[in-house]
Amino acid sequence: MRLKEKVAIITGTGRGIGKSIAKVFAKEGAKVVACDRDLGTGQAGVDAIVANGGEAIFVKCDVSIEENVKNLIAKAIETHGRIDILVNNAGVNFVKKFEEVEPEDWDRVINTDLRGTYLCTRLAILEMLKTGAGSIINIGTIHSLACMAGAAPYDAAKWGVVGLTKSVAVEFADRNIRANVLSPGLIATQIWEDIKAAAPSIEEAMKYWKANIPMGRPGKPEEIAYLAVFLASDESSYITGSNILADGGLTSLLISKEPFESKSIEGQ
Ligand SMILES: NC(=O)c1ccc[n+]([C@@H]2O[C@H](COP(=O)([O-])OP(=O)(O)OC[C@H]3O[C@@H](n4cnc5c(N)ncnc54)[C@H](O)[C@@H]3O)[C@@H](O)[C@H]2O)c1
Repeated sequence: MRLKEKVAIITGTGRGIGKSIAKVFAKEGAKVVACDRDLGTGQAGVDAIVANGGEAIFVKCDVSIEENVKNLIAKAIETHGRIDILVNNAGVNFVKKFEEVEPEDWDRVINTDLRGTYLCTRLAILEMLKTGAGSIINIGTIHSLACMAGAAPYDAAKWGVVGLTKSVAVEFADRNIRANVLSPGLIATQIWEDIKAAAPSIEEAMKYWKANIPMGRPGKPEEIAYLAVFLASDESSYITGSNILADGGLTSLLISKEPFESKSIEGQ
């Protein structure tokens, strides 16, 4: 077990990537403190972990609200006495023309994705300093390397998450607290269901994404969870301040495949 006895707070565990991280962390022996703003899905995920012999508690928490985050940290300390790992996974996104992005749209994304990451990180670090060790994993995105039209608040928030992570990594490196960004490509969570539903057909959606993802498929939540295990564990003891991609090669592709066969081209 790669995380035996480690106390891990994971945010946004109600579904998708966060749910998978909580499940895999518990399987690897972590004492999971799961949180979500949605009580129903969050509690159900934790019940499933416990039913399978894992150790987990659920705390209802909106990470953008300081009082909620204080309560989350207090519950973790009350239950386990320390915090070894924090995974800032809770995130929201939407696609909208920039001219139509209202201040409340902006605040909604920035408040969860960036302010929530700051709030959880600061309060967790205050506890990690007491034990003299910690690993923080902030879930970023490939949008933290390049941007997509219509996603300005998300892109700004996630670039901010990278800056925050690097700053924390540098400031706490000599106190044995590491911080890294884990940036997924397209992962088969609700967003992938929404993409398929919006396409003229599932075949069209698959054709487009096959041409744009060298591995030809979206990632699975567990493929992100196992990278999070590595970053949370002592196996990654010399890694801090990094932004690590798990994107099936998406950001290594210069342009998507040409729709026609070109004859070979030789430079003179
Ligand atoms: N799925 C992808 O393709 C993809 C790609 C790159 C990055 N990411 C990032 O991974 C993370 C998870 O994505 P996902 O696809 O699993 O999302 P999702 O929408 O399926 O799940 C997000 C979970 O977070 C919870 N949540 C949202 N706002 C919250 C808040 N303020 N406080 C507490 N909980 C909150 C939701 O209730 C939900 O359970 C996000 O940070 C997202 O930006 C996802």
